[in-house]
Amino acid sequence: MPEKSWFYAMKETDLNEGIAEFARVKGTPVLLIKKDGKIYTLYGKCLHMGCRLSKGTFSDEYTMKCGCHGWEYDIRSGKYLGDDSKTLGIYENKVEDGEILVLL
Ligand code: FES
Repeated sequence: MPEKSWFYAMKETDLNEGIAEFARVKGTPVLLIKKDGKIYTLYGKCLHMGCRLSKGTFSDEYTMKCGCHGWEYDIRSGKYLGDDSKTLGIYENKVEDGEILVLL
């Protein structure tokens, strides 16, 4: 398995609290959300039928709801709330020089 590396996703100033964003990072769709100042980065497409999760709605808590058919995910664990066995990939991230980097 190839070693993981850090890749640029977006500028930190472009990610606003509670507003979901989408970035394609080295070919991988990634959902970015800032909640209470902490950045969460997850696989960016719904496990149901592949809709872009950033087009859904984010609740005040930790739930991202897909805009297509309403599947809900916990952004901390990536878990689909309707079935524990389905989980979105979650990725480590860090901010360097104002840029959000994702480990892939
Ligand atoms: S594609 Fe997300 S709920 Fe159907």
